[in-house]
Amino acid sequence: MVADSSVKDLASIYRSQFSVFDHVTYVNSCSQGALADSVRKSFDTYISTLELQGSAWGDWAGYQEKMRGLFAEFFKVPTSEIAVTTSASAGVNAVASALDFTKARNRVVTTENEFPTIGQTWHAQELRGAVVHHVPSSNGVSVDVAAVIAAIDEQTLIVSITHGCYHNGAVTELAPIIEAAHKHGALVLVDAYQTAGAVPLDFSSLKADFVVGGTLKYLLGVPGVGFLYARSETTSHLIPTSTGWFAARDIFAMDIHSYDPAKEARRFESGTPAVPSLYPSATGLQMLIDIGIENVYRYVGGIHEAIREGVESLGATVITPRNREHHGAMLAVASLDENAHVAALEKENIVTSSRGGNIRVSPHFYNNYDDVEKIVAAFAKTSHFLRK
Ligand SMILES: Cc1ncc(COP(=O)(O)O)c(C=O)c1O
Repeated sequence: MVADSSVKDLASIYRSQFSVFDHVTYVNSCSQGALADSVRKSFDTYISTLELQGSAWGDWAGYQEKMRGLFAEFFKVPTSEIAVTTSASAGVNAVASALDFTKARNRVVTTENEFPTIGQTWHAQELRGAVVHHVPSSNGVSVDVAAVIAAIDEQTLIVSITHGCYHNGAVTELAPIIEAAHKHGALVLVDAYQTAGAVPLDFSSLKADFVVGGTLKYLLGVPGVGFLYARSETTSHLIPTSTGWFAARDIFAMDIHSYDPAKEARRFESGTPAVPSLYPSATGLQMLIDIGIENVYRYVGGIHEAIREGVESLGATVITPRNREHHGAMLAVASLDENAHVAALEKENIVTSSRGGNIRVSPHFYNNYDDVEKIVAAFAKTSHFLRK
């Protein structure tokens, strides 16, 4: 039961549309969101285009545009600032390919909380002249915002920051970093994969130059669809050298004698879209838009808090910061043996995941307070794994 009557009890409305709960207590949305019945049906919609029409290029391209429109609506930006990518990695790489590291301004300032893709992509640019600086965390969990700001200088080309850390759930306050970077003439790329769909995000007011993520997790979609937001005011001069025909100004010009990329953010796209993934991912994101991210944020905040209280009462160490501004949906619990711990919880019918020595418990709007009881009971039963 939701204690605060002003918070909409979302699980009581939507949970029955997620059949995974007939089988397990699913709290692994930081890895893959649960499958809604409507999302499942969308796979069939795609298959029926093959069965009925054979090749339905019109419908398929339409879905790419539908996806772009949904991202734009959800993140409160114009469609011209959205590239529909096949992964967050594809977006970051397209951005990196547009940067010139051969000039004096060749530094990349990043953190210790990044997903592997981010670190690896920037270090790959060392082959092109980049100098990569990782700002250490002062408490081993959160991004040290003051230290990041202090690291930004006139040689900094781009600041690359993860909004929500994939292994400990810490959420970084982005605004002061973006402001400082812009003061020094540096760009900012935000990896919002772990917060998109869990925390309200308005890219227009955030003013980051680039934001990447994908539909697989809290956006209720499937692998194969990502987004790259590129702020037109500050990035329209950047032309990717990693490209493909779907990034061309006129896709069907079929020109092999020149490079004429789209003016909009679409120039960061590449080849044929992951069409089978667009159908379910569009349906998932539409569902989230209909539910309302503010409702999700408030409801899941209560579930997160209840899990935290429950596991802390067992003596568990919750690594994720407590303050609401500094966490999203995920709660990271310190473990002595993360893989064995996940397996032991799975034996209790609780699906979680692990990274960096922590068990990641990641609820969404379909989880309820019965789940919380089951999760806490399973942590009690497996308490010998808790790193206290
Ligand atoms: C924070 C974060 N960034 C990036 C990724 C990778 O995204 P992709 O596989 O779409 O490149 C993940 C996936 O788990 C993630 O959690």
